[in-house]
Amino acid sequence: MDQGLLDVLQNAKHVLVFTGAGVSAESGIPTFRDALVGLWARFDPAALATREAFRRDPTFVWGWYEWRRMQVYNTQPNLAHQAIAELSAIVPKLTLVTQNVDDLHERAGSTEVIHLHGSLNKPRCFACARFATDPLPPPDDPTEGRHLEPPRCSHCGGKLRPGVVWFGENLPAQALAQSFAAAKDCDVLLSVGTSGVVEPAAQIPDIAWRAGATVVHINPDAKCVRTPREFWLDGRASEVLPLLVQGFRSSR
Ligand code: APR
Repeated sequence: MDQGLLDVLQNAKHVLVFTGAGVSAESGIPTFRDALVGLWARFDPAALATREAFRRDPTFVWGWYEWRRMQVYNTQPNLAHQAIAELSAIVPKLTLVTQNVDDLHERAGSTEVIHLHGSLNKPRCFACARFATDPLPPPDDPTEGRHLEPPRCSHCGGKLRPGVVWFGENLPAQALAQSFAAAKDCDVLLSVGTSGVVEPAAQIPDIAWRAGATVVHINPDAKCVRTPREFWLDGRASEVLPLLVQGFRSSR
């Protein structure tokens, strides 16, 4: 590892870890834009990930997200999730921001995870927008494409919708504000497994770099980097993150 980068890791005070679908890829959760296997290569986001899609066919949309929830339920966190969870005990301050709607960071032991795009496990009412009071039962049928009637809101009786941020919707304001503030304050930002094409989340690494942080992209796809203070580590998250954690740990 670059000695200059190692020095930065060893002296880091506030690390912001910013993750995308690539961090869960090795757990078997499909990404969105990887060629052929990404979800948007197989499904039409306009027919599944918008308010109009849910209004048009709530059973198709709810069934698809239950299929995705089933995939997450049947998988485990990988070494990348575990390394990120370990990091919180090594550096003085860690902020974890994810674009993912799975709970693999939490199941690896990370706490206070900032979910910019919501969560598969926190549905809310399509009519009154209140979050469901009762937790969802374990998903039961892995059939892809099955139509399922959404549960009802205990407050108003409206249909529950997946608790994820759909295209055209605003991100949760507090989560976004916390993420931008952490980007301005951190001295190291690890961007793990994201294509960096979806706004406004995609601004986070740039905000950190412009504020003087060192930015490290962990991704098998090439990332163009600016010198100084920006690095691309070519590799899969579950192989690179454990090595980075050793770098953070050494000489502390
Ligand atoms: N380790 C690290 N990176 C990986 C791995 C891996 N094992 N496998 C794939 N990647 C990288 C890909 O090269 C790609 O750059 O992960 C990235 C995944 O990109 P996307 O599929 O676009 O996922 P993401 O960046 O999280 O998408 C952002 O778009 O559709 C919306 O709401 C959705 O949160 C999502 C947002």
